[in-house]
Amino acid sequence: MRQKSLLLAALAGLVIVPLQAQAMKCPTAIRGQLDAVGEGRRAYLEFNCAGCHGDSAGGAMGPGIQHSEQGDVQEAVLRGDAKEGGMPSFKGCATNTDVKNIAAYLRTIGTGNEPHWLDWWNLVP
Ligand code: HEC
Repeated sequence: MRQKSLLLAALAGLVIVPLQAQAMKCPTAIRGQLDAVGEGRRAYLEFNCAGCHGDSAGGAMGPGIQHSEQGDVQEAVLRGDAKEGGMPSFKGCATNTDVKNIAAYLRTIGTGNEPHWLDWWNLVP
């Protein structure tokens, strides 16, 4: 029994040590520094649209929304459709500017201007 707990402690050490060794990355991006497309990409990640619509909006648990019309983005984001389809409303969080920026970002997907970074809190390459 004692040996077992020693073994467990050793295993826990193996798991915990590398996690502690990893340095925390501090947020460096400042809102409003990027162009509309960049801000849209940031909002897309920050509001976790990517979690349901996929990293490049190709679809996942939610439908693909690449190149969606701004009006559709506005309706979906500000109104939501949680009762029927599961799209949450971001009213009170997302602004009209966020909506415009997200639509601008969605238009660039598949073009040379599509931004690809994965963390909204890091300064964009
Ligand atoms: C919890 C999962 C989830 C999150 C987070 C989410 N969505 Fe959705 N979204 C859905 C689902 C599911 C649908 C389809 C059904 C519906 O309309 O409710 C949808 C529908 C949409 C539509 C309409 C698509 C169509 O073909 O009619 C747009 C546009 C959209 N979402 C954009 C966004 C944006 C932009 C964000 C981030 C601000 C976001 N969604 C966040 C799940 C999500």
